[in-house]
Amino acid sequence: MDTIRPVRKAIIPVAGNGTRFLPATKAMPKEMLTIVDRPVVQYALDEARQAGIEHIVFVTGRNKQAIQDHFDDAPELISSLSRSGKDAQVSELEAMLPAAGTVSFTRQQAPLGLGHAVWCARDLIGDEPFALLLPDMICHGPRGCMAGLMDLYGSTGGNVVGVEQCAPEEASKYGIVGKGHTVPHGFAVTEMVEKPKQGEAPSNFFLNGRYILQPEIFGFLARQQRGAGNEIQLTDSMLKLSQTQPFHAHPYAGRTFDCGSKQGFIEANVAFALARPDIGGMVFESVRDMVLSHQGRIHAA
Ligand code: G1P
Repeated sequence: MDTIRPVRKAIIPVAGNGTRFLPATKAMPKEMLTIVDRPVVQYALDEARQAGIEHIVFVTGRNKQAIQDHFDDAPELISSLSRSGKDAQVSELEAMLPAAGTVSFTRQQAPLGLGHAVWCARDLIGDEPFALLLPDMICHGPRGCMAGLMDLYGSTGGNVVGVEQCAPEEASKYGIVGKGHTVPHGFAVTEMVEKPKQGEAPSNFFLNGRYILQPEIFGFLARQQRGAGNEIQLTDSMLKLSQTQPFHAHPYAGRTFDCGSKQGFIEANVAFALARPDIGGMVFESVRDMVLSHQGRIHAA
């Protein structure tokens, strides 16, 4: 077997418009919406770091300055917090600051699709395998999904995608993979379809927004062929790559919340709040009371 090259860099695409969250996203990037007290984009960066990623490439766009500021130093804020004795908050802000030179930004100048966004990072990635994390998809479980992809990659090399199972009627919202033979931590991918029509999905395993890809993907993306929704789809290029290189899927043991939808965003807030030692108990009681009184109103109606 060829040597398995380490995955050092990750792409996090943050150029999307967030129209589904207007008016909240009129003046603020959707990636800065908060799950409890941390912006959506922070979860993807933390998951990448926990999986051993050293360098993050953000593919950004117009009106996304707040994301750059979020991952930069804030000396005035830090000194004001220090003067007020808020040491815990100072430590938290210092711990989340990426080390100098470990974050890069490039821009996707037109919204041509996920495949195009990834292609925009080609020079910053260079000729090495890379991870890709879609920040709208937030993983909730004992371990981040990317760490599981790394386990599988460590034995198979090649390309690895994160998957989860969805209800059949949800399949047309996602990229869907076909399931082949089983391997430790996952299975071989037999086919991939982006947003299949109702009844045409090869399985109910959907791409959950976590990928490890070989740099040869850029050659396919460079063709800029349009797919579903008339966008340059990453899934279409992955399908071509899978015909020349190993391609495996890792079923995530936790749950991924699709924070690109209002329902997923609210569910993620509840799930992360319930898991927090500081507020989980209170949130549990108030959510339970709300559900019970809502049920009572439904029964009384
Ligand atoms: C993208 C991918 C799709 C994947 C999904 C996960 O779709 O193209 O394969 O299942 O992310 O969120 P999008 O959400 O950009 O339509």
